[in-house]
Amino acid sequence: MTGLPAGAATGTADPAERPAALELEDVSVVRGGRTVWSDGTFSVRAGAVVGVIGPNGAGKTTLFQLALGLLPAAGGRVEVLGAPPRRGNRRIGYVPQNYTAALGDAIRCRDLVTLGLTGGRFGLRRTSAAERARVDDALRRVGAYDYAERRMSELSGGQQQRVAIAQAIVDDAHLLLLDEPLANLDLRNQQEIVRLLGDLHRERDVTIMVVAHDLNPLLPVLTEAIYLLDGHPHHDPITDVVQEELLTHLYGTPVGVVRTAQGDLFTRAAWRDPQR
Ligand SMILES: Nc1ncnc2c1ncn2[C@@H]1O[C@H](COP(=O)(O)OP(=O)(O)OP(=O)(O)O)[C@@H](O)[C@H]1O
Ligand SMILES: [Mg+2]
Repeated sequence: MTGLPAGAATGTADPAERPAALELEDVSVVRGGRTVWSDGTFSVRAGAVVGVIGPNGAGKTTLFQLALGLLPAAGGRVEVLGAPPRRGNRRIGYVPQNYTAALGDAIRCRDLVTLGLTGGRFGLRRTSAAERARVDDALRRVGAYDYAERRMSELSGGQQQRVAIAQAIVDDAHLLLLDEPLANLDLRNQQEIVRLLGDLHRERDVTIMVVAHDLNPLLPVLTEAIYLLDGHPHHDPITDVVQEELLTHLYGTPVGVVRTAQGDLFTRAAWRDPQR
């Protein structure tokens, strides 16, 4: 069983006593000689479910790469799960943007998930029975066990995304970084992935950060959002972020916010064709 009881991730269930999952202090990031964003100061508490939003090129993927130690900060201080970022941190589960599309055709689901345990050494050593059991657990947990022996190229986008998430959770991640996990999924599959994230969050006490362009399917699980506005990251409770003025400014196009009679929030493109 790879699941963690609540609080086991950091030894205590009291959020106040736990190290932040991700903490930035006055951080700036430079790529190709250009500042992507600056003045990054925020703290994501352990156990949060955070949407990461902003227009194309704003630096959402860059934020994840910073947390993963794949990219140094040009300035400021970064801490992930109480320590400076370092490559290969097994406590972070990562599903990169367009991950499943970029995979070789031939890889089997089970082998992909096994990579989450054995990393680059896969293929050079046999896995232990305990490791194989953990892979089975992760595949079952995401509902992908039935197609574990199939090749990724033979699966639908929703099935592939489940396997990618299984790889990210197989090594008991305390922090999950998912870069656009809902891209190219139909409504039903989007909802099923969001439900899976909500369940994983509850069962494993894992902190989740999700990059998304459409907030709507994620609103039931998000507690807060980081939004990259005017070259700076901001961090606020989700209800403060789902505001017409803020989202319109963020995306540079009119965005409306609707609250249903049941109290559910929705965002919608508010542009109207004046000819109609
Ligand atoms: N390897 C790289 N070398 C140089 N510049 C890069 C590199 N990767 C990204 N950039 C630049 O950094 C900026 C932020 O890119 P990033 O991929 O973080 O954006 P994003 O918010 O994830 O966008 P998208 O919504 O399109 O995925 C962009 O201007 C991009 O051109
Ligand atoms: Mg990106």
